[in-house]
Amino acid sequence: MTTDTLPGHPHIHYAAGQLQVEDCALDALATEFGTPLFVYSKASMLSALAAYQCGFAGRNAQICYAMKASSTLGVLQVFAQAGCGFDIVSGGELARVMAAGADASKVIFSGVGKTRDEMRRALDTGIGCFNVESEAEIDVLNAVAVSMGKRAPISIRVNPNVDPKTHPYISTGLKGNKFGIAHERTLATYQHAASLPGLDVVGIDCHIGSQITEETPYLDAMDRMLDLVEAIEAAGIPIHHIDFGGGLGINYNDDTPPPADVLWAKLLAKLDARGFGQRKLMIEPGRSLVGNAGVCVTEVLFMKPGEQKNFCIVDAAMNDLPRPAMYQAFHTIVPLSEVQQIKSESKSLLCDVVGPVCESGDWIGRDRALAVAAGDRLAVLSAGAYCMSMSSNYNSRPKAAEVLVDASHYHLIRARDTLMDQMRGELLL
Ligand code: LLP
Repeated sequence: MTTDTLPGHPHIHYAAGQLQVEDCALDALATEFGTPLFVYSKASMLSALAAYQCGFAGRNAQICYAMKASSTLGVLQVFAQAGCGFDIVSGGELARVMAAGADASKVIFSGVGKTRDEMRRALDTGIGCFNVESEAEIDVLNAVAVSMGKRAPISIRVNPNVDPKTHPYISTGLKGNKFGIAHERTLATYQHAASLPGLDVVGIDCHIGSQITEETPYLDAMDRMLDLVEAIEAAGIPIHHIDFGGGLGINYNDDTPPPADVLWAKLLAKLDARGFGQRKLMIEPGRSLVGNAGVCVTEVLFMKPGEQKNFCIVDAAMNDLPRPAMYQAFHTIVPLSEVQQIKSESKSLLCDVVGPVCESGDWIGRDRALAVAAGDRLAVLSAGAYCMSMSSNYNSRPKAAEVLVDASHYHLIRARDTLMDQMRGELLL
């Protein structure tokens, strides 16, 4: 049997006929913990992080993991221990990162709709920066900080009006998006913010979208951001850090995003050329740190041949893996058995892989060649980002369990929901 890694997944490979994450066979994990089961490779996360760290070697840069991609405490712990900061978007995320051992001064708080209560909690915790997204938010944050006798460190999120050339639902830096302050309003907004007693202007930020696979949108956004920094500093307001957001894509299906270090070599060359090479830099990557570190193991419940389509009905569903239903996203699906994988490659009869949820939108893969039968297990790849963190209890399905693999060791980092977990907090009349 081969021990070839799957293309784009260096820590996932077949060994002794079985699909493994690092040195752990997925079939054994599924037998121990049940399915659907998310399994993550710690080495894969750390090597994705290393690509950024390598790109920033010798620079004053802070990587803030955008934890919305995967927010389970055990995953956060891996990044906290590796020295990362975190990009958060809610009070819930703040509580999670602090529980995972984050350094509060490396936490940045993004999002268009922070509540006063969330602002107070973040100020109390002593986070590093609020990325503010509207004039109204600036005034409310100022009032909250003044009422607490504090000054809130802020960066203004600019909408650079650059097309990231990705799915429209995950484009965030175009004029029609709800995010950030319009490029033309930025200077006036900085002048207003700098005049307020409860705010301390420390930076500027942008985030143009997600699953970006081209370099040009980043280079264009950087030019527009640097033009603004020059204008704001000329008006006497120093900008201590520049945050370029996240958004770098991963390979789901023949996608060819630039590696993080290659992208950053180009971006740093531009920063150097424009005289900003020594400025403190921040980035907020999410998907590119965890996306290809995770798989979702699911078991085939029934094969259902049909007149127009064949269906492979599995025990994972849109509540576990919402990306296909939400964005028509593609995830590679492979059998855990290598023999079945080899047979699948030559199979001409295609099937849709679907879950048990009562919606036609509940599909995980369409027109796939799979030589499998009821009881066999499959791995849905690239399931490390925006799967578990976007999962729900729809159809009163329990949230799946999660396991983190570290070489030949594995840790259950989230137990499967019990029925009582699902009903907690509900009251009969
Ligand atoms: N910073 C901000 C302000 C963001 O809004 C996001 C993602 C990130 C950083 C991280 O972006 P990343 O590096 O992960 O692309 N659920 C969608 C993706 C939504 C992304 C939302 N914002 C999906 O499954 O494709």
